[in-house]
Amino acid sequence: MNVCFATSECVPFVKTGGLADVAGALPVALSRARPDIRIKVFLPLYARIPVFDHGFVHADDLGELNVTLGDEPVPYHVWYGHLPDSEVEVYLIDCPRFFHRGTLYTDHVDEARRFILLQKAAFDVMQRYAFSPDIVHSNDWQTALMPAMLRHAYAWDERFRQARSVLSIHNLAYQGLTHPHYAWEAGLPVDHAVPGGAYHMDGAFSCLRAGLVEADQITTVSPTYAAEIQTPLLGCGLDGVLSARHNDLTGILNGVDTAYWNPRTDAHLAAHYGAGDLGGKAACRTALLAEFGLSAPPDVPVIGIVSRLADQKGFDLLVPELEQVLREREFRLIVLGSGAPWLEGFFRSLAAIFPDKVGLFVGYDEGLSHRIEAGADAFLMPSHYEPCGLNQMYSMLYGTLPIVHHTGGLADTVRDLDEHPDQGTGFSFHDARPDVVAATLHRAIDTFQDQDIWRAAMRRAMQQDFSWDRAAASYLNVYQRALSQRP
Ligand code: ADP
Ligand code: GLC
Repeated sequence: MNVCFATSECVPFVKTGGLADVAGALPVALSRARPDIRIKVFLPLYARIPVFDHGFVHADDLGELNVTLGDEPVPYHVWYGHLPDSEVEVYLIDCPRFFHRGTLYTDHVDEARRFILLQKAAFDVMQRYAFSPDIVHSNDWQTALMPAMLRHAYAWDERFRQARSVLSIHNLAYQGLTHPHYAWEAGLPVDHAVPGGAYHMDGAFSCLRAGLVEADQITTVSPTYAAEIQTPLLGCGLDGVLSARHNDLTGILNGVDTAYWNPRTDAHLAAHYGAGDLGGKAACRTALLAEFGLSAPPDVPVIGIVSRLADQKGFDLLVPELEQVLREREFRLIVLGSGAPWLEGFFRSLAAIFPDKVGLFVGYDEGLSHRIEAGADAFLMPSHYEPCGLNQMYSMLYGTLPIVHHTGGLADTVRDLDEHPDQGTGFSFHDARPDVVAATLHRAIDTFQDQDIWRAAMRRAMQQDFSWDRAAASYLNVYQRALSQRP
């Protein structure tokens, strides 16, 4: 089976969020599950990807290529490599004019055009290598036009005639709304992109909507989110399209890549540990506190946050009550994140008011994210919505009990300790309200005082199975379903 897997980010090359973790792990798990599978991953070559460090070589055999956007030929190059310890081939699309910008994602007018280039280049490279994909697997709006391109822009090419498309939604809120003109540049029927057309939405050409309409199969990253996006509350205006396609929509929970996230082997940690020997976790906790100039007696819990500071993540729910909780209770809060300036400001002010209780690093730091997962006792994710969420799973595997809003993938992975005393793995609340979040923090801090209950929950959490092998088997079923839709 030949698979083209297109993504805008991928671990270990470049990452801003969970999509990168998925793109780095799922293709490898697929090839483990089915040795006869051949996967080509396509990704932009952003300025920050150190090609030589990752063993990429320039595809001299291809030389300089051109993709035509509308009537403008845009030159690009290709770099070739592999996902670590695997046969999965990776192609970096090298077009500095499009991809060497300050950030991966921009608000520039040509944002959609940048990713149209990526998608057309992927087809171009497949043609040049005479690679006939059985499955073209897109992820989020940045690569969501590939199903439509298969039906229209490349319908003439025999090579793609057997290909079927799968679109994975990692976050429905980002839709790639752009000018209908770009539909023409992408080789798609412009009448679909203008008002009244199937790709049109909110006065714009919606790349994501085009994908949802045209893909043979649609997946999203948890069963609960798959149901939620078919409702007006979390459907982001696409609930109608999604419910119309519910027979082709599958929720598959993400896995955890234990090559990167395993407290027994994690190279970022001061000490190692596992469910059977928790000793090393105390050393990680002490080291983490020290890193922030903090200390805490054993009965004072350390609560961690690692997150993009975006509206989605629900930190606005902390604003009215967290200061009061910090005054009333003994706990430590360690925050790693960056994003919305007002949320960065909120955490900065907390750190200034409570220098002995709050540790803050504003920025992105891979190693620190691991040290927080290991060193904290609990981990806070009050997300308004969460398609899957990876950090609550990392937390559980690191024996760090998650405190979460019961939504999306958080609902599918965390079992509340009070609701299920014998099976609980964390704390979850149903109403996304500041007082409810505060009450749940109190509940977690109270529970921490009973170390027998807490440790039993830690062990249960650490024994959860979040393997990518389970997820890969489900994706292979979806691929089969797509292939059975061949005429
Ligand atoms: P999302 O993709 O919506 O941001 P996920 O929970 O799926 O949420 O994945 C987020 C990923 O990004 C996790 O691997 C997390 O550790 C990482 N991450 C988020 N913010 C930071 C940061 N400031 N520094 C390091 N890693 C971060
Ligand atoms: C998105 C979602 C997150 C999910 C990740 C990977 O960024 O916000 O919940 O875990 O994609 O699928």
